[in-house]
Amino acid sequence: MTLVLQADNETHLQHAGRLLTLGGIVAVPTETVYGLAADATNAEAIRKVYAAKQRPQGHPAIVHVGSIEQLTDWASDLPDFAYQLAEHFWPGPLTLLLKRHPRVSPLITGGSHSIAVRLPAQPQLQQLLKQHRLGVIAPSANMHQQLSPTTSAHVLEQLEGKIDAVLDGGRCQVGIESTILDLRDPKSGIQILRPGPVTAKQISELLGQSVQTPPEHDVAVAGNMARHYQPKAKLRWLSDPEAAKEGVLLVRSRRHDWAGEQQELGATPAQYAHALYYALHELDQQQQATIWLEPLPEGEEWQALRNRLDRATE
Ligand code: TXA
Ligand code: MG
Repeated sequence: MTLVLQADNETHLQHAGRLLTLGGIVAVPTETVYGLAADATNAEAIRKVYAAKQRPQGHPAIVHVGSIEQLTDWASDLPDFAYQLAEHFWPGPLTLLLKRHPRVSPLITGGSHSIAVRLPAQPQLQQLLKQHRLGVIAPSANMHQQLSPTTSAHVLEQLEGKIDAVLDGGRCQVGIESTILDLRDPKSGIQILRPGPVTAKQISELLGQSVQTPPEHDVAVAGNMARHYQPKAKLRWLSDPEAAKEGVLLVRSRRHDWAGEQQELGATPAQYAHALYYALHELDQQQQATIWLEPLPEGEEWQALRNRLDRATE
């Protein structure tokens, strides 16, 4: 049975903390999407997360911490850039890829010498991690390759009965996964491995250095696979509004050249991201067969959304 705990209830929050420290697996709210958390020092708990998600072993996971001080528990040889970025963007949707601390289990790094770390901005989760000085892996709380959850109900749709508890913190504010920034070798360049809410422009402005976002790279990032983030419905970019009038069209703002049903997600990237997975989950619940997507504007601020949707479309 999966227990439903409320993040704003102190007793429930403490219970979630106890479950995690005892090796349980608990879905937790973050500002991006819900993650399936396990104590990152507990091999058994880590294995349970991979089994519940049916995620292949060897796929590295992000460690979530409650304070910047915890960084040195997980990473070594930290470049100054890491602190500068952490102080500016944390708590928040930026994951730093660093050199791993020697004691970190290869189970969570995919056997590599790097470690991904982030400090999430959801206040109760942050409190819990800080209080117990816990680092938790928290891959998105969905079955492998499916749509990331942005509410506790989404988590239960996919994982009810397979996990010990879900900590309900309401709907995720950001709504898409964090930016992953590779800082393993800052002297030879800084790259974004998964575009996200924090953009290359924001990072390069802070550091006074250029930041690349290669379209393809060989670092193991699940979101780098061609198929990912998939709803059950057929999701397609709309090339010709005349060609198809069946199914629902997801738009930024209402379009007058579409005769079928449409759903507005929002005119800005932040509004659109907040609404996107929620809308896709809802349409899957309604067993919608086909979902059309209005093409998104060019430009860096829409890049993370184009990236997710390119991998979710057929
Ligand atoms: O916003 C997020 O990042 C969410 C929330 C729950 O925090 N988490 C998330 O985790 O998206 P996940 O596991 O679904 O995606 C993490 C990505 C994976 O594609 C993984 O391959 C990559 O991060 N990653 C983690 N550790 C890595 C490492 N050591 N080297 C390369 N890639 C790594
Ligand atoms: Mg994921």
